[in-house]
Amino acid sequence: MEELDLSNAGFTTRAIHAGQEPDPAYGALATPIYQTSTFCFDSMEDGIAKFEGTIPGYVYSRGGNPTVRALELKMAAIEGGEDCVATGSGMGAVGSVMIGLLQAGDHVIVGDCVYGCSNVVIRDVLPKFGIEVTPVNTGDLDAVAAAIKPNTKMIYFETPTNPMMRLTDIAGVAQVVGERDIKVVVDNTFAPPPVQYPLACGADIVLHSVTKYLNGHGDVIAGVIVGSADDIAQIKNIGVTKTCGCFCSPFDAFLIIRGLQTLELRVRRHCESALAVARFLESSPAIERVLYPGLESFPDHAIAKKQMNGLYTGILSFELKDGLGGRSRFEAGKQVVNAMKLAHVAVSLGDPASLVQHPASMTHHNVSNEVKASMGITDGIIRYSVGLEDTDDIIADLKQALATL
Ligand SMILES: Cc1ncc(COP(=O)(O)O)c(C=O)c1O
Repeated sequence: MEELDLSNAGFTTRAIHAGQEPDPAYGALATPIYQTSTFCFDSMEDGIAKFEGTIPGYVYSRGGNPTVRALELKMAAIEGGEDCVATGSGMGAVGSVMIGLLQAGDHVIVGDCVYGCSNVVIRDVLPKFGIEVTPVNTGDLDAVAAAIKPNTKMIYFETPTNPMMRLTDIAGVAQVVGERDIKVVVDNTFAPPPVQYPLACGADIVLHSVTKYLNGHGDVIAGVIVGSADDIAQIKNIGVTKTCGCFCSPFDAFLIIRGLQTLELRVRRHCESALAVARFLESSPAIERVLYPGLESFPDHAIAKKQMNGLYTGILSFELKDGLGGRSRFEAGKQVVNAMKLAHVAVSLGDPASLVQHPASMTHHNVSNEVKASMGITDGIIRYSVGLEDTDDIIADLKQALATL
């Protein structure tokens, strides 16, 4: 058969075909699970050449595996990067980028609101290794420019942030950086393609917790990092495989490859339902505020319209009014969450099932109260990941839960 040229192909065509060819052994259409720790060499000479890299081939699955490679090639095509490395978790991706690209004496600017464990790794762990860290509201480009020092080597942020949903203008940050040797790294977990393409906006590296939308079925923990071939090689050799062994398993890669083929369909549905849920919550008299980039009332809506392709993620956060039925915001939130019948009380997001959680005590429990307060995470904030259930059923469940107040 003729080789398929994907350079001008649409999103789902790439998501289905990139990285996947019928398997050379038996022509299997689905990429097989190469569940092996090691690969046999034809001879000593063959093994030496593969270790030296003078002939291509796999040697040991910690350093590379055909199923995992198919996933990496597919993700590079989906995010529009030169190369990708898959990791054993989203945190493996965050840690690997740091270990792979930074060294003692460097300075990092980190968004002032990030996922709890990312906050710990960047703000608490990096300084132990002589890396300076400055938390900045990266939504404020003047603040980003003012925080840059001669030794700044990385600007790392989430957009939308977890769980406050605030946005950063990715192209704006890239413009502030200009020609400086500073890597712009975006955690795109909350807005996967086709919602947002950080590399096309000027970022150098995009990473994901694949655990969420990319796998999309709630049955895998994994991560990916996409960027230039040089950056990925450095991250892979130092941060992921050779040193730290934070690699993705072949079985997980197989499941993710399967999930990615329906990414566009799933993400569209998540986003469309989330907008409807956000509008419903905004109209409820019990709700103080809804944090969702697709709402016109959201402070960063203009940035959302600029860089989020008309889809605005499947996650929203909200806060109830204080004093409802004599309850504090926290007590009212607890009452509503406990009354939900369809959404499960669970962390994670981007699953088929709707999931609801309390960031202050769950995803961000390991962040100090002071930092939580600076992120805006109050006791009243509830995060809701809108699932793939019928939109009317999701809204009906929220309606009955709010009616119990
Ligand atoms: C924005 C964000 N980044 C990274 C992670 C870490 O991903 P994982 O749980 O796959 O390690 C999470 C997990 O919730 C997240 O929400």
